[in-house]
Amino acid sequence: VLNACDKANVKAVWNKVAAHVEEYGAETLERMFTVYPQTKTYFPHFDLHHGSAQIRTHGKKVLNALGEAVNHIDDLASALSKLSDIHAQTLRVDPVNFKFLNHCFLVVVAIHHPSVLTPEVHVSLDKFLSAVGTVLTSKYR
Ligand code: HEM
Repeated sequence: VLNACDKANVKAVWNKVAAHVEEYGAETLERMFTVYPQTKTYFPHFDLHHGSAQIRTHGKKVLNALGEAVNHIDDLASALSKLSDIHAQTLRVDPVNFKFLNHCFLVVVAIHHPSVLTPEVHVSLDKFLSAVGTVLTSKYR
């Protein structure tokens, strides 16, 4: 459960990330596809090469959705309800993949903002990303 301190930490991280959603989103996806190549199976229709415009566009969508979640951090279930339907009913992304994406995003934040990601902030961000993953995989069955 995210406590008040976690929520403040996540918002502080997002203040740093918000201006770079496309760049960090693309880096996150590119890392995920490279480090966990099985994730590529969900994107057979994408150009997954370095510098792909589709990766940039999609990375921006994913991070904007995370930003929306930050804005509605007290009510993630309603804020992510539509995305939860899409991932569960249409895309059927195996839940393990959310851990991969979350890990890659944490690494990207660490690279760009090493001083922001103290151990306390790291745990808050990890808790937040897990909570988002739980909502997005909550309608599977
Ligand atoms: C689509 C967000 C995790 C696979 C989307 C869209 C958003 C999004 C905003 C666009 C939905 C629309 O078109 O209305 C997120 C967030 C995630 C997440 C916030 C977790 C933090 C994942 C994971 C995978 C995945 C882990 C698979 C490895 C896909 C695919 C699409 C999609 C295949 C459709 C892409 C397309 O054809 O344009 N996601 N996603 N997502 N997502 Fe996710």
